[in-house]
Amino acid sequence: MSEFSLSMREVSKEYGGLRVLDVPELDVRQGEFFSLLGPSGSGKTTGLRLVAGFEAPTAGRVIINGRDMARVSADKRNIGVVFQNYALFPHMTVAENVAFPLQMRSLSGQDIERRVAEALEQVDLGPFRDRNAATLSGGQQQRVAIARAIVYEPDLLLMDEPLGALDRRLRARLQGELRGLHHRLGVSIVYVTHDQDEAMALSDRVAIMNGGRIVQQGAPKELYDTPASLFVSNFLGDNNALPAAITGPGSARLEAGATMPVPRTGASAGAAADLTIRPERLRLTADGVRDDGPGFDGVIADVVALGAMTQYSVRIDGVGTLWASVQNSAHAFSGVPGDRVGVRWELDDVHVFPRPDSPSPADETAKATADA
Ligand SMILES: Nc1ncnc2c1ncn2[C@@H]1O[C@H](COP(=O)(O)OP(=O)(O)OP(=O)(O)O)[C@@H](O)[C@H]1O
Ligand SMILES: [Mg+2]
Repeated sequence: MSEFSLSMREVSKEYGGLRVLDVPELDVRQGEFFSLLGPSGSGKTTGLRLVAGFEAPTAGRVIINGRDMARVSADKRNIGVVFQNYALFPHMTVAENVAFPLQMRSLSGQDIERRVAEALEQVDLGPFRDRNAATLSGGQQQRVAIARAIVYEPDLLLMDEPLGALDRRLRARLQGELRGLHHRLGVSIVYVTHDQDEAMALSDRVAIMNGGRIVQQGAPKELYDTPASLFVSNFLGDNNALPAAITGPGSARLEAGATMPVPRTGASAGAAADLTIRPERLRLTADGVRDDGPGFDGVIADVVALGAMTQYSVRIDGVGTLWASVQNSAHAFSGVPGDRVGVRWELDDVHVFPRPDSPSPADETAKATADA
């Protein structure tokens, strides 16, 4: 198989003069699992529809394997599509559903038979081939839809919230199966979800979308550890967010009054900023136990036991309430409401996000917003 590639260049989509998608540059590589992650209305489905060829961009180019797709219709793009409500034919059997795209391509009966069997094998539905599609569970139907999308060996699979309608347990299982399938087939996948955990669990790279734009893209861990904006940081995981003002290189005053050290940034003194620290980065120490890391002392306000971890909210004068999540183990910190505790962290665990409207030369978000 030759190297697959998908690119978007200066692509935009407007409906009635309103721009809902604006992608200057996007590249998906051979075999990559690439996710579009963003809130409702951020343009994820629109992006997929442009790639699939169900819609034409208002401007710009969608390029597959080096070829501009402007004049290539959806059925000639060799793309497999699984959408959340892309219904099966309910009166056909599982095998007939999966065979359908092959019949459209006029393959021989023998070829069809073989490929359908292989595709059903891939999604673990071999024994279900003669069942009526309407009699399957939601998860099984979704797997038939996946078999139907991979049966003609597409270069690219587009999936729009394919697990959206399923319960948590089934979702987790099908996520595992999708990972395995991706691994076995080596096919490139563009996957749409608004579930951050799902995107992080499945993807090689994730593009975070907001208001029709990709605000950051990268490997899941990179995005989680070094978010470029408060939006990305909040969208991927939980945060303690503290509004503050920068008071000098490496220091800030919280709106609630306390001062604390922060990593040095380009932000100038006086600039408003949001400081964030992830809950799992906080260390809790019992009263009297010494820990010289940066932090504050406070009082436990609430304890939420979640099984594998416990969340503590700690009230701190001049700071507010911080959430700490503690992984449960034999020697893990444990406390009850009313206990005095130390809350400590590493300086590098504090992220500084200058406010877009405050004067700061380093702030790209401000410029992007002004240009829009
Ligand atoms: N055919 C259309 N006509 C007019 N506006 C549209 C059309 N399709 C999408 N839009 C608008 O474009 C924006 C992006 O929609 P899109 O479906 O791409 O969002 P999404 O990120 O997939 O959201 P969700 O997570 O809710 O599925 C929305 O504001 C939507 O209302
Ligand atoms: Mg959508």
